[in-house]
Amino acid sequence: MHIVITGTSSGIGKFLAENLGKKHKIYWVARRKNTINTIDFFEWNICDNDFLEKLTEKVGILDYIIFNAWVGYFGDFEAISEENHREILETNLLSPLLLAHKLLKNKKIKTWIIFIGSIASKKSLKNGASYMASKFWLRGLAMGLKNDYKKLQIQIINPSIVKTDFHKKNRLDMSNYRENSLEEILKIVEDIISWKEKRFEVDV
Ligand SMILES: NC(=O)c1ccc[n+]([C@@H]2O[C@H](COP(=O)([O-])OP(=O)(O)OC[C@H]3O[C@@H](n4cnc5c(N)ncnc54)[C@H](OP(=O)(O)O)[C@@H]3O)[C@@H](O)[C@H]2O)c1
Repeated sequence: MHIVITGTSSGIGKFLAENLGKKHKIYWVARRKNTINTIDFFEWNICDNDFLEKLTEKVGILDYIIFNAWVGYFGDFEAISEENHREILETNLLSPLLLAHKLLKNKKIKTWIIFIGSIASKKSLKNGASYMASKFWLRGLAMGLKNDYKKLQIQIINPSIVKTDFHKKNRLDMSNYRENSLEEILKIVEDIISWKEKRFEVDV
């Protein structure tokens, strides 16, 4: 299988890429280079339009694309800069939307699109209004695409908390969220790929 995964330099994306890479051909995408050397690494900012063009040209027909990359700025809504609010929406929502648009337009996606959403699209999170908004809209994008592309398998996984590097740098009050392991997220993706998990939305 040929799979593009965005956001592979750390956290969930890195774990998915390393493990799925044992059986499948992975195209990694992030701004920082990963520790694993691969010719199929795209060192790009997913908000950059040139990236969309080049990725679309370079990849053949993909079996899957996993939209995982994100940024999050948390704190008092007014204290977060306009630039940071914009970056959240561009990275978490606009870039997957435009990348899906380009790949679908160029008939590059054969079967699956997997969105990594968040339970924060459904359940309130303190000091994370624009992150919540980006994930709420991402769910809307996933639902809309599922409705429009009946022949494609489109699914969204909503993790709760996964203790990635992000949490080492940021202290968030997520006491009402359960903790997920990286293995749990990998298992869901593997189940999706092997047709065991068919639900549109998987809340973890
Ligand atoms: N961790 C959690 O508790 C949690 C909970 C619910 C949902 N999620 C979701 O799970 C996904 C992964 O989270 P995580 O905690 O594993 O993230 P993470 O460790 O912070 O990693 C984020 C990844 O996104 C990439 N990225 C960010 N901006 C980018 C850009 N402009 N261009 C290319 N790549 C970019 C980063 O790479 P570079 O910086 O190298 O570009 C990095 O590889 C996200 O969609 C998040 O919303 C996470």
